[in-house]
Amino acid sequence: MNSSEMTSSEKRNVLVIGNGGREHALVWKLGQSAHVDRVFVAPGNAGTAAEAHNVPIQATDFPALIEFARENRVALTVVGPEAPLAAGIVDAFQAAGLRIFGPTKAAAELEASKVFCKNLLRSANVPTAEYHTFNNANEALRFLEARDDVPLVVKADGLAAGKGVIVCDNRQQAIDAVELIARQKAFGAAGDRLVIEERLHGQEASVMAITDGQTILTLPPAQDHKPAYDGDTGPNTGGMGAYCPAPLVSDQMLQWIEEHVLVPTVHAMRRAKRPFRGVLYAGLMITNQGPKVLEFNVRFGDPECQPVLMRLQSDLFQILDAAVHNRLDSVGPLRWDPRPAVCVVMASEGYPGKYTTGHPIRGLEEAQQLPDVKVFHSGTALQDGQVVSAGGRVLSVTALGENIANAKFNAYRAVKCIRWQGAWCRKDIADKAIKYAQ
Ligand code: AMP
Ligand code: GLY
Repeated sequence: MNSSEMTSSEKRNVLVIGNGGREHALVWKLGQSAHVDRVFVAPGNAGTAAEAHNVPIQATDFPALIEFARENRVALTVVGPEAPLAAGIVDAFQAAGLRIFGPTKAAAELEASKVFCKNLLRSANVPTAEYHTFNNANEALRFLEARDDVPLVVKADGLAAGKGVIVCDNRQQAIDAVELIARQKAFGAAGDRLVIEERLHGQEASVMAITDGQTILTLPPAQDHKPAYDGDTGPNTGGMGAYCPAPLVSDQMLQWIEEHVLVPTVHAMRRAKRPFRGVLYAGLMITNQGPKVLEFNVRFGDPECQPVLMRLQSDLFQILDAAVHNRLDSVGPLRWDPRPAVCVVMASEGYPGKYTTGHPIRGLEEAQQLPDVKVFHSGTALQDGQVVSAGGRVLSVTALGENIANAKFNAYRAVKCIRWQGAWCRKDIADKAIKYAQ
């Protein structure tokens, strides 16, 4: 689409669904578009409240969201998290005649069912770990008894807030994982089916692409930091930081991933009569044999979205609007800030376990005034006009820099300005990239 097709007199209202750092970044970027009038976010957080209109409707309350979108002439809705996608928010909006960016419920199975995902990968010949699927604990246990004692990964089929994957060193751990997922049902119905797969080794990378089901716009690669503590130790989290681009994924490798992972997956989804429109996020292990898919997500990664959007110079509204009109081929090559971006997540004491909320956060303005810094809010709320912590992951402090080391320095300089009771973060975000670049 060229800009003459959309004049500034036709400014549109947009609605972002969700309340985390990813959604704050989406709100911030959409708000910069010359084509956007009002940005609404449901339910949003204290950060989005400062630059958009928070709407007190939960992401799963589809009838209320549809009514709001209609009443406020929302031209485009953008969905952040996976839960409403897996529950069919896109189908509900489309049935109401409203435009929404994201996959349908049938297409969101790519993330919501690991059995579906693995079978699709196999049918499309996309590189992934060898695997078997099981319908109950007994089947899985029989399989484990009959096999060599090798490192395996046991996965609950359904959505389990990132906790349904257990990486095992030996058979006994795999047996315990099967018991936990499929017998004790630690993750509920998500454990009704299981995937057991070969354990892969290497570094992980996230490659996201925006697609309308035909055209694929691949975004620069990013890297997440899932373990809670420095040196990739401790329990898994939603992600303690990210950077973009990830030097581990060269331009040549990115092209290979596009050809051998993204394109065949989008084609296979079309063949399966589940055309995929939205963000296709490939979680990859870069092994000695090349990149292999660990999982697909059907949305922007959080926190990967924050450093990626920090670098995006093109108009995000135009891109997403073109995608919902099946005209992504009319969007020219995306423009990126050549500088890398680093995002450091500041979390509540105790996260990813139990934590307390409601602690006043100080120093946000001071941090925000630093050059090339954007403090995205992940879990915050306003209490009597004061920004307080309201989640496990609280802030996504993101910065650009001339090189990755400089971006890291800028991000941590901003982190140092911010304090609340129990605040902590990893100190080594982006070190892998710095080492790689040396
Ligand atoms: P997933 O939700 O499937 O991406 O799994 C979550 C995390 O578990 C990944 O980010 C990896 O760190 C790890 N993981 C998943 N599958 C494998 C595998 N086959 N080999 C090694 N690690 C894995
Ligand atoms: N950062 C990982 C995810 O969004 O699933």
